[in-house]
Amino acid sequence: MGEKMKKRQILICSLLVILSAVFVSGCGDEKKHKIGIIGAMDVEVDSLKEAADVTKTTTIAGMEFCEGKIGDNYVVIVKCGMGKVNAGVCANTLIHHFQCEGIINSGVAGSLDNRINIGDIVVSVEAVQHDFDVTPIGFKKGEIPYTEKIAFEADETMRKIAVDSIRRSAPEIDVFEGRVCSGDQFISSKEQKDRIISEFGGLCCEMEGGAIAQVCYLNHTPFVIIRAISDKADESEAVDFKEFEAATATRCAKIVQDMLESL
Ligand code: ADE
Repeated sequence: MGEKMKKRQILICSLLVILSAVFVSGCGDEKKHKIGIIGAMDVEVDSLKEAADVTKTTTIAGMEFCEGKIGDNYVVIVKCGMGKVNAGVCANTLIHHFQCEGIINSGVAGSLDNRINIGDIVVSVEAVQHDFDVTPIGFKKGEIPYTEKIAFEADETMRKIAVDSIRRSAPEIDVFEGRVCSGDQFISSKEQKDRIISEFGGLCCEMEGGAIAQVCYLNHTPFVIIRAISDKADESEAVDFKEFEAATATRCAKIVQDMLESL
């Protein structure tokens, strides 16, 4: 074999060794995911940030995106602030800047269903925006024009993992699966509550999930919303919310942590 040929063979072998090393390390990473976790308030993300061993923080649009790891999974945890615009900007940034493959929205919510009490948990089957109204020009209540959709569906696998995780780690908590209703309003009267129930019939109301759901739909990204009930979304709300907000938000964050550790 000529000298030139030998050199070429050595070069090819070296390349193969490098490629297989890259492939093997890639395989080791096979089970890991990069998940974005959004909460609207500090109490909804603080315990998760502690659990994640944050290695890098980046500020975009005034939001602090904290990168770390929970269990085998990479996470980006962020407090988006209240409301649908904040939540939408945040979800889009997680998908496009941080390349998150899925999004979990964790936090508190008001109950819209008499069976669901303070401390119970709602896992989204779908999310709607109860304040979206283009009915004067022929669309249905809550319909997002030109999508033919009122509700955006949560990812079935993420939903299942969330419910299993709650049943395993907190069997004493009642968990409900169904529709989450979002809007840029804190619901605190029977009148507002009854309107949402009669028009949309959901299980709980909050202020971010519907926007996250729409952004995930637009970007073909799976999501799930996990909400702990902090109030009854009526006149008793102010007292209930202040009393139960921190405890229920932390409970919800712990469930997300357990969910990620078991992924
Ligand atoms: N988050 C928690 N409780 C809520 C309520 N009553 N309305 C809107 N968002 C909430």
